[in-house]
Amino acid sequence: MVKSDVYSIETPALILTESKMINNIQRMLSVKEKYNVNVRPHFKTHKSIKIAKEQLKQGASGITVATATEAELLLENGVEDILVAFPLSDKKKIFRLLKWVPTAKVIFTIDSMDQALIIHEAAEELHKKAEVWIKVNCGLNRCGVEPGLEVYELAKETIDKTDLQLTGLYTHAGHSYGATRSQHIDEIAKFEAESIVQSAKICEERGISIRHRSVGSTPTFEKAAQYEGITEVRPGNAVFFDGIQVGLGVAQLEEVALTVLATVVSIKKDRCIIDAGSKALTTEKGAHGNESIKGFGQLLIDKPLYVSRVSEEHGVIEVTGDQIGNQISLNEKVNIIPNHACPVVNLFDYYYVMKEDGTIERMKVDGRGKSQ
Ligand SMILES: Cc1ncc(COP(=O)(O)O)c(C=O)c1O
Repeated sequence: MVKSDVYSIETPALILTESKMINNIQRMLSVKEKYNVNVRPHFKTHKSIKIAKEQLKQGASGITVATATEAELLLENGVEDILVAFPLSDKKKIFRLLKWVPTAKVIFTIDSMDQALIIHEAAEELHKKAEVWIKVNCGLNRCGVEPGLEVYELAKETIDKTDLQLTGLYTHAGHSYGATRSQHIDEIAKFEAESIVQSAKICEERGISIRHRSVGSTPTFEKAAQYEGITEVRPGNAVFFDGIQVGLGVAQLEEVALTVLATVVSIKKDRCIIDAGSKALTTEKGAHGNESIKGFGQLLIDKPLYVSRVSEEHGVIEVTGDQIGNQISLNEKVNIIPNHACPVVNLFDYYYVMKEDGTIERMKVDGRGKSQ
């Protein structure tokens, strides 16, 4: 840890303001008391063991992951309750994760009988009990069975044909990122919650108990948590927030905890060039159809300026003559709010964590590249 000036950091660099992140974790965890739900934050956003542990310390009930290698990293580092919110059908990966059971709790997820049978076979071979949740499609149209009877049919077949312990249903309203107004987010959150609550009701009326009913995306989790029958939310991005969440009205600019520090490397008549291009900011402009995001990142300076073009290492910012020399000069460092924090984190080896006492700590992005 060094007492240091942020502007001495070599760029491009990932800057994390710790106090803002802690506030965001507290905001995330506040739904626990307010609506009596568990909070299981997604690891995919921060990919940091330390941040996952901070979330657990603040009251998270477990962690959500997207990949087997993310799960293994957390298991190896003492995290004991993990939801693998991605349907694994590769038996080798399932074997590796089952080895941790029952020392740790690892929940597998399915949206078809074929996957259920693969997990069942792996568990039988290892003489283990495997816990599974069914993925429900609430409108994102990615994985997931349709809410209602389809969920019951998969639940029934899973119970009839396997030894798997079916304990929950979950869904993810990622299409909320394409919302164009806040009322639209309300409607998506309502359907997200209802798709799970209704499906659980249909299962329970037919004798299948569903203990865990899990929902969540950053735009919807605070709303969906309020519905009777929901037991868990899984926010990911909310640990940092980003340009997309500010654009959606989900977070204020001041709440964004993560920025990319870049340096002005060249100045032309009508533009300046920074050393952060698509390999630092990505080319994301808002997943799932939201086209309202301007450029590839917003500069944190007095006048709103955006990175309007990116190639791999270059970012281009259109500037006017009066800004040159005033806000923009050669070797000037600029702080940029990325559009989408999650893939940006995966491009860096380290965070530079700005602490309240003015020190800067370099912290590894432990799960960087753990995509398998
Ligand atoms: C299954 C699942 N749950 C939760 C999340 C967290 O969503 P967000 O980052 O919007 O909070 C994601 C994100 O992709 C997801 O895929």
